[in-house]
Amino acid sequence: MADKDGLKVSKDYGVGIPFANNTPFHVKGANNLDWGMKRHLSNIFDAKSGKTVMFAFDHGYFMGSTAGLERLDLVIPKLLPAIDVLMGTRGALRTCIPPDTGKAIALRVSSGSSMLNDDLSHEILAVDMEDSIRMNADCIAVQTFIGADGQLSSIDNLSKCINAGMRYNIPVLGVVAVGKDMERTDRFFKLATRIVAEMGANIIKTYYCDNFEEVVAACPVPIVVAGGKKLPERDALTLAYNSIAGGAAGLDMGRNIFQSENSLEMALAIRKIVHEGFTDKEAWEFFREATKS
Ligand code: R5P
Repeated sequence: MADKDGLKVSKDYGVGIPFANNTPFHVKGANNLDWGMKRHLSNIFDAKSGKTVMFAFDHGYFMGSTAGLERLDLVIPKLLPAIDVLMGTRGALRTCIPPDTGKAIALRVSSGSSMLNDDLSHEILAVDMEDSIRMNADCIAVQTFIGADGQLSSIDNLSKCINAGMRYNIPVLGVVAVGKDMERTDRFFKLATRIVAEMGANIIKTYYCDNFEEVVAACPVPIVVAGGKKLPERDALTLAYNSIAGGAAGLDMGRNIFQSENSLEMALAIRKIVHEGFTDKEAWEFFREATKS
């Protein structure tokens, strides 16, 4: 754009007005997609609640062996009753997860960062579409860094995945990353989620923030909220509740589940919020009751 000065500030988000192009298919922004794409999205988003409980355990791709995920083969299977979607790397899935879980798969396909890098924003596409199809992925997850050094290459990665995803009917989950020096404001999330959605991503993963309702209203595809660092369980349930109340189509939590002493009960409490309309208070009561010894 030639002139950024004096731009009008966006303000009319129509919060509370349902998304217009929303029937007959239950996933936001997917009404005009092909059958195969809808089939995958239906594996992710429950047809009744319209929402999803994703479980992120892709941390190994940049953190190595993460506290709580030392033994994927032991940790993941016991959480399955609470989870709709397993979000992981192909290495973790192929080696540690039985293929007959019946759960949807969100396959992490971008890589290139590690805890030892100063700048996590430069990634490559590590998994090609052929292998994603072999894994029977219901969506592929790509990190995008809007406003960071690696913006151009991450948009290039995202676009390549979306082009291949459109060719083979595999939805793309755009993960809106926030670099360490970047703001976690609604201003940033409105910009980043909308860019990623307009590039053609079918699902966005991002963080909760103030005015989250406006971020959701301005984004034409479902937003699932990331968990972030481990919080006390009560606070994590409030984050989950606020996200769903603000219009999120689900949660994609990792550490707030697998680093809990009571990881299954925590995941079940989150499930109550996502699919059964529990408040955070009700979910906390459920969690306390379930963990009473
Ligand atoms: C984000 O880029 C990755 O999917 C992370 O591995 C995941 O979001 C981390 O989940 P959490 O922050 O809930 O532990």
